[in-house]
Parts: sequence; structure tokens; C-alpha cells
Amino acid sequence: MILVLRTIARNPVGPFKTHPLALRYVHNGSGLWQRCAIAAQLVLGRVSLPPVINIGPIKLEGFPLLLAPMEDVSDPPFRAVCKDHGADLMYTEFISSEGLIRDAIKSRQKLDVFDYEKPIGIQIFGGDEDAMAMSAKIVDAVQPDLLDINFGCPVKKVVNKGAGAGVLKDVKLMERLTAACVRSTTLPVTVKTRLGWDDNSKNIMDVAERLQDVGIKALAIHGRTRAQLYKGQADWSLIAAVKNNPRIQIPIFGNGDIDSPEKALEYKNRYGVDGIMIGRAAIGYPWIFNEIKHFFATGQHLPPPNIDQRVAVIKKHLHHSIAWKGLVPGINEMRRHYTNYLKGLPGIRDYRLKLVTHTSEEAIAEVLEEIVETYAGFEFERRQINMDAMAYSCDA
Ligand SMILES: Cc1cc2nc3c(=O)[nH]c(=O)nc-3n(C[C@H](O)[C@H](O)[C@H](O)COP(=O)(O)O)c2cc1C
Repeated sequence: MILVLRTIARNPVGPFKTHPLALRYVHNGSGLWQRCAIAAQLVLGRVSLPPVINIGPIKLEGFPLLLAPMEDVSDPPFRAVCKDHGADLMYTEFISSEGLIRDAIKSRQKLDVFDYEKPIGIQIFGGDEDAMAMSAKIVDAVQPDLLDINFGCPVKKVVNKGAGAGVLKDVKLMERLTAACVRSTTLPVTVKTRLGWDDNSKNIMDVAERLQDVGIKALAIHGRTRAQLYKGQADWSLIAAVKNNPRIQIPIFGNGDIDSPEKALEYKNRYGVDGIMIGRAAIGYPWIFNEIKHFFATGQHLPPPNIDQRVAVIKKHLHHSIAWKGLVPGINEMRRHYTNYLKGLPGIRDYRLKLVTHTSEEAIAEVLEEIVETYAGFEFERRQINMDAMAYSCDA
């Protein structure tokens, strides 16, 4: 104890005196001993503080893992289970700005965000400045933590309206749409986009600089062009180039094809991004976030979730789905998730058939209990994901 205190005394202007995060760490120690030890270690430089990623006023500690916005997937019930399993920042599905200002029910419902989800971003898309400005105001009234603009959707009916990835062909319009949103909200505005329109027009560097100048607070980049849709491999080298551009001060999040803890670590180290956004790998497998965090911290894999843990998550997802959507739509919408949650179980087909035909939560819960009994002790293999099979069903 004396040694520790002496060490601190000899370093009166240690970083813990000035660094607010260090002070917090010191204050968070449970006892005097622990606090002294942490303070001394900080002074001696033996422990380093986790970095903090700032998105305007939002502070994300360490290396954040983001749940990607996914149409028809990342609704509140799905987000609830991802939050439980380590997602640090989440987004809604994309919302049409035209739909929002027309008061379309589907668009309005996507605005539902809950306190336990924080920090949460609402994502909008559109190609008209006025509609985007009005939508930004509507989103502002809901008070999520941030407003995200989608400049990456490759779907034909979106692109043809000059929205989503279509805007990548007109960077001036992109600037105007973004500026309209920045002007119309007090929330931090962020953007999610792709490398460019096609192989001959990978303009992400220019896009990043211009959008930063317009006032966005973070940029998430999916390492594909619009022309690639979801084919081929995501190329993160240009994402790294944007991150390494000395002009770029905002956080850069990398996105595309992260499907395992090893890949997350490899890409984190190789491309130096500020955080990773995960989409398809979380579908039916929200455990991916904590598995990656555990691997970062220890170099070891967490054991795959057992059948009890999987069924507990299915029940929670179903419960949230019914609470949010109502009984019938809640049960119907949950049906597309069972296959992914129960992948790898031999002979699961008959049970799955029952799950998708029952119409009450109790009956479904009974089938789930049967599944737990039948597969008690089943050893799941580490997850292999067929990312192509989960790709956006788009008409492009
Ligand atoms: C089913 C599905 C729906 C998607 N919907 C959206 C969306 O609403 N907004 C958006 O910006 N990207 C959307 N995306 C793209 C993802 O956010 C992400 O960029 C893409 O899946 C690549 O990441 P991944 O390889 O981790 O899946 C969607 C992707 C999928 C598979």
C-alpha cells in the first residue's frame, strides 16, 4: 500500500489528474486498494485506457461493434436480443423520407425506438431535399441518439428514385441532401454508404471529405460498390485509405462480410477502422457480438450457445415481436427467424413446421420446450454462415 501511494506521490502530474476517463476509472474502483492500484498503474503507464469514439455527444468506449441497419430484420424485437448480446450501437431499418412525410403507417412504425436500446440511430433515405429535411425534423422529435442517412441501398426501386446508392452518382446532390438533414436536426447526423457506384467510379474518398465538411459525425462504409450488390468479397482496403486520410477526423466504421471473431480481429488490426458494423452474421445469431468481444479480450472462443440459451433468445424475440406488433403479426413475423436460430440441429424440420403453424405464444413455447428436451446436451459446432444465402433479397 505504502509503495503504491509513494508511487502516486512521486508522479503528482500523472495522467489520472488530467484525463477525465482515467478519473472515472479511478473512481469506479470498488475499494481504496483497487483505486490506488489502478491509479498507480495509469501513472506508470502499465495499463492503457480504452479509446473513446465520439459521434458528436455519443461516446462509445473501446472498439465498438455496430448492428447494421437491415430492412425487415433490424426491428425492435431483433434489436432487443442483439443489445442483450453486446451490440454497442444499433440502427433502425431504413425509412423512406417520402413515406414519413406522407404519414405512411409502415414508415412511422419504424420510428419506434426504446430507452433500453440506446444508443440508437434512426436511418432514413430519399432523393428529395425538402422531404429529407422534413423527415429529419420528424426524427428529431423522436429523439434517438443519431440520424443516419442511407446512401448505400442498391435496390432498383430506391436507386431509380435517385436515393440510396443512386446518390453516389451525384455527389453534389449527396452534399445537399446531407446538408438539409444537418440543418434540420439537433441530432448528430451520420452516413452509411458504399465504395462508389461501380468499379470505375469508386469515389468514397471524395465523398468522405465532402460529407465531413458538410457536418456528418461518423461514416460507415460497406466495402462494395453498388454494382456489386452483395456479390464478391467486400474490399476493405479503400475503407482503410479513408481512415488513414489525414483530412478525415470523424470515426470510420468498416462493414462487409464480418462473420467470425477471427475475421473481426484480423480486419480490426489490418484496416485500423474505429469500429465494425455487422449485418448478416447477426441474423439468427446475436451471440456474434459478445463472441467477438471475448475473442478480442482473450484470444479464446466462447463455447457456442447451447440449446437452452438458443431457445431463451427465441422466446424473448417472440415475446418482443408480439408486444410490439400485436399477436398475429408478431407471431407471423417471427416465423422467418426460426430456421436461422435452430440451424445445425439434425431432424429439426418437423419441429420447425410446428413452430410456423401454431398461432399462440403458449403453443409455440410448448414446442420450444420439446426442442430443449430433445436436444439437451447437443453439441453445436462453431457457426458457419452462408452469407450469400442471407443477402438482401433485392430486385436490382
Ligand atoms: C436483409 C438485409 C437488409 C438490409 N437493409 C439495409 C437497410 O435498411 N439500410 C442499410 O443501410 N443497409 C441495409 N442492408 C445492408 C447491411 O446494412 C450491410 O451493409 C450489408 O449486409 C453488409 O454487411 P454484412 O456483410 O455484415 O452483412 C441490408 C442487408 C441485408 C442482408
